[in-house]
Amino acid sequence: MPKFQEEKTLIIIKPDAMQRNLLGEIIGRFERKGLKIIGLKMIELGDAILEAHYAHHKDKPFFASLKNFMKSAPVTVIALSGLNAISAVRIIVGPTRGYEADAGSIRGDLSISGQANIVHASDSAESAEAEIARFFKPEELFDYKKIDYEFVYGEEERG
Ligand code: CMP
Repeated sequence: MPKFQEEKTLIIIKPDAMQRNLLGEIIGRFERKGLKIIGLKMIELGDAILEAHYAHHKDKPFFASLKNFMKSAPVTVIALSGLNAISAVRIIVGPTRGYEADAGSIRGDLSISGQANIVHASDSAESAEAEIARFFKPEELFDYKKIDYEFVYGEEERG
């Protein structure tokens, strides 16, 4: 049993962030945290993938507006890995509504909206696995040794 419990998670850098020239700012925050980028691409989202991704919101009054927003410009999807990455990434991103998010989080610093909230992040191990498979083909994901791990993690955490 390895000591290092790596998790993978998915983020979507949304159209508002792409339009507001925040892509580098956002990727930089995840890189500086020590997370490993294992997949990254820019795509346009259509109805089918949005209806699968946001299936749990399909009966919400904002669903049509959410789909229009997510189709309004390309997005950047990124798969990240790291120690407890799913919860670590959600802490960096902050709660859904930018106007309620703490300063220091991505949404707290960069958003004041409930919809245009910059980033989507997987909320559980089950959704992370499903979302990575939804947005990436296996050959678009990379397994490689990160040379900074000796300093990003403690000896016990590296396994
Ligand atoms: P996300 O974390 O991607 O999950 C669902 C998304 O729906 C959310 O971020 C927002 O972009 C959007 N959303 C949530 N609540 C509302 C709302 N009340 N009105 C419009 N959009 C919303």
